Amino acid sequence: MDFKAKMLRDDALKGKTILVTGGGSGLGKSMSRYFLEIGAQVIITSRNLDKLKNTASELEKETQGICIPLQCDVRHYEQVEAMLAEAHQKVKSIDVLLNNAAGNFISPTERLSSNAFDTIIDIVLKGSKNCTLALGKYWIKNKEENKTVLNIVTTYASTGSAYVVPSATAKAGVLAMTRSLAVEWAKYGIRFNAIAPGPFPTKGAWDRLLPGELKDKFDLAKKVPLKRVGDHQELANLAAYLVSDFAHYLNGEVITIDGGEWLKGAGQFNLLEQIPTEMWDMLEEMIKAKKSK
Ligand code: HXC
Ligand code: NAP
Repeated sequence: MDFKAKMLRDDALKGKTILVTGGGSGLGKSMSRYFLEIGAQVIITSRNLDKLKNTASELEKETQGICIPLQCDVRHYEQVEAMLAEAHQKVKSIDVLLNNAAGNFISPTERLSSNAFDTIIDIVLKGSKNCTLALGKYWIKNKEENKTVLNIVTTYASTGSAYVVPSATAKAGVLAMTRSLAVEWAKYGIRFNAIAPGPFPTKGAWDRLLPGELKDKFDLAKKVPLKRVGDHQELANLAAYLVSDFAHYLNGEVITIDGGEWLKGAGQFNLLEQIPTEMWDMLEEMIKAKKSK
């Protein structure tokens, strides 16, 4: 089985224009590449215009598609509105918003300044809100239908997690927004879904979540029942399906793609995995012996 294979047919996203926040690097770049490969036009946006321009020309060369780089700090509503206005001068309409931009770092919460906490909330929660509200209002006002918003969250949006509390708090908010608007804006022909990825190595995440020696100390693959990290194409396949018309009846869902990682952490007795097979005969006998007394 080749889990790195490309899943959808070549024209699956033909005619669609997709706006990817944080599309210049990491997972945003990988998803953008696949969208272009299967026929979409892609707008990538983030704070760093040079990076976006490099990515756009690299992806255009690789895919022969059209990739438009636009600068925008999603924390600021007026920048989002300006970016959308510029985008609408270049494309007929935007069909998909992929809220992928994020900020994160590990820290004991009591060490955080108020501004540090706000910075993550502003990028992740306020940024996703800004893009969703600005583009949603545009779609509704102009009676544009068959639109979709895909939000990239995390598995700890549902469970919470120590040491990444601003990110967990913000992602939980994004998940609540996904589910709420899936109901409220369905009447306008707008679908909302989310993906909760497990570990998918990127420089942006690994430098901030596993700095220095932590990379060698914590092998994230070991925490995953399938004993491996995710491949970018696996995430791109899922994202492409969710934003395509094939997923037209999927609304308000969060799909976890983590090889079973969060469930392994959740199950109270999952630690029994450490017991060697040969020990189970002895344990079974001990338990049965108690029962007969
Ligand atoms: C404590 C920190 C800190 C740290 C920054 N701050 N880093 N506090 N520990 N490691 C504080 C600063 O001191 C400052 O507060 C405030 O946060 C803002 O910092 P700035 O550097 O001024 O912010 P800015 O330039 O806007 O950069 C934002 C950033 C940066 C989030 C800090 O890391 C960034 O640009 N990140 C973008 C990419 C990213 O994070 N990608 C990872 C996504 S991974 P004071 O009080 O001093 O002013 C992800 C995966 C999750 O989400 C799941 C994985 C399995
Ligand atoms: P990444 O490469 O660091 O991507 C984050 C992107 O967000 C960057 O391109 C960055 O570009 C952009 N960004 C940050 N602040 C911004 C702002 N204020 N305005 C606009 N853009 C901003 O990390 P990644 O791993 O690919 O993460 C992508 C998404 O996947 C995030 O939502 C993350 O939470 C999620 N995720 C990742 C993993 C994983 O294992 N990698 C797991 C779970 C969830 P600029 O710096 O140019 O602005």
